Amino acid sequence: MRRVVYAADDPNPKMRGGAAALRGAGLEVTGGLLAAEARELNIGFFSRHERGRPWVRVKLGASLDGRTALADGSSQWITGEAARADAQLYRARSSVILTGSGTVLKDNPSLNVRIDGAVRQPLRAVLDTSLRVPPTARMYTLDGLATVFTASADEARIAALRQARVQIETVEKSAAGGLDLPAVMARLAALQANEIWVEAGARLAGALLTARLADELVIYLAPCMLGPQALPLAELPPLRHLSGRVHLRFLSAELIGVDLRIIARPDAGQA
Ligand SMILES: NC(=O)c1ccc[n+]([C@@H]2O[C@H](COP(=O)([O-])OP(=O)(O)OC[C@H]3O[C@@H](n4cnc5c(N)ncnc54)[C@H](OP(=O)(O)O)[C@@H]3O)[C@@H](O)[C@H]2O)c1
Repeated sequence: MRRVVYAADDPNPKMRGGAAALRGAGLEVTGGLLAAEARELNIGFFSRHERGRPWVRVKLGASLDGRTALADGSSQWITGEAARADAQLYRARSSVILTGSGTVLKDNPSLNVRIDGAVRQPLRAVLDTSLRVPPTARMYTLDGLATVFTASADEARIAALRQARVQIETVEKSAAGGLDLPAVMARLAALQANEIWVEAGARLAGALLTARLADELVIYLAPCMLGPQALPLAELPPLRHLSGRVHLRFLSAELIGVDLRIIARPDAGQA
């Protein structure tokens, strides 16, 4: 007897029918073994096919009192080397590393994968409504592809960015301010992006949470305190009632070097 055991059905409609074809050919076929684990392993692929948008992980490095930068914007480095190396692994597994113009203008980050032997650089993308980020930004000039999402039609700036080999994606502004985030995610899904790794400041992190587009938070908590004048994890609209809070559930908490890595996901049951 020839037997095939598989974990999960392919969510891509073009790929349906494999199990039936094998059964038709006389094989014994069993599906669903370790299906939950298989979905986790391919979480972005399932997300893109089932929800039409990528899986969005938001990384935040914070002090124990939940502060991500000093009031003047300095944030390098709150967390230790091991946490930063761990974040590199997340970068490497992602299709896209996404940030906001605020972080690029303040920190001029590289947003690339710096792991020995890494062969693929994820797309580096920035949300920059009015093209404030210059073509000389580090994330635009390193190896690999870079894209700016913008609502600007400023021809001179667009030409200068194109000259620097930056791809331009035009999207509408949202009523809440900034760019239309669902449109950005739909476009990234159309570009076949499965997993997005967001490394941004409180503004974009908060906007993604508010729009319910943050699927997972990866928070590295450093054993230090920065005090209430420092910047928060996420800018959220003021709450009148506790019932309006963003509900999360913890998936794990683990020491990474000297820091604590907490992984949390929105709790759909409580939302
Ligand atoms: N601790 C950490 O993990 C960490 C990580 C990254 C950054 N940081 C710190 O965060 C600070 C910067 O934070 P930030 O809040 O100013 O910048 P940010 O969240 O990186 O970027 C925010 C900017 O993105 C643009 N944007 C476009 N569409 C948006 C939308 N729908 N929602 C939200 N933003 C949108 C807006 O600028 P436009 O109007 O120009 O489009 C907005 O001001 C820096 O001090 C940096 O060091 C900390």
